[in-house]
Amino acid sequence: MHVTWKLAEGREIKAEVKDGLNLMEAAVANNVPHVIGECGGSLSCATCHVYVDEAWIAKVGTPDRFEDGMLDVAEAERRASSRLSCQIKAGPALDGLVLWVPEP
Ligand code: FES
Repeated sequence: MHVTWKLAEGREIKAEVKDGLNLMEAAVANNVPHVIGECGGSLSCATCHVYVDEAWIAKVGTPDRFEDGMLDVAEAERRASSRLSCQIKAGPALDGLVLWVPEP
């Protein structure tokens, strides 16, 4: 699937991501700044915080209660579109996904 990360500075990073990979791993592999993935995807750091583009919110879905709790401690402002990208799995249904990277 294809993913675009939009950075606050206006730059975009586009990449092809293998199905089954999570979007934190994909961001790290593509050197997307400010998506760190400190805990390796175990839902205990919130350094993989992203904003899902409005057009994609319904498809990506909402955080479960564990992710919801972690989002409260994310460094950047929490919004309705906030997700932890280690909890989003790449797959054909998300082809074309657009994620916004929060300002650090
Ligand atoms: S990588 Fe730590 S919560 Fe997502």
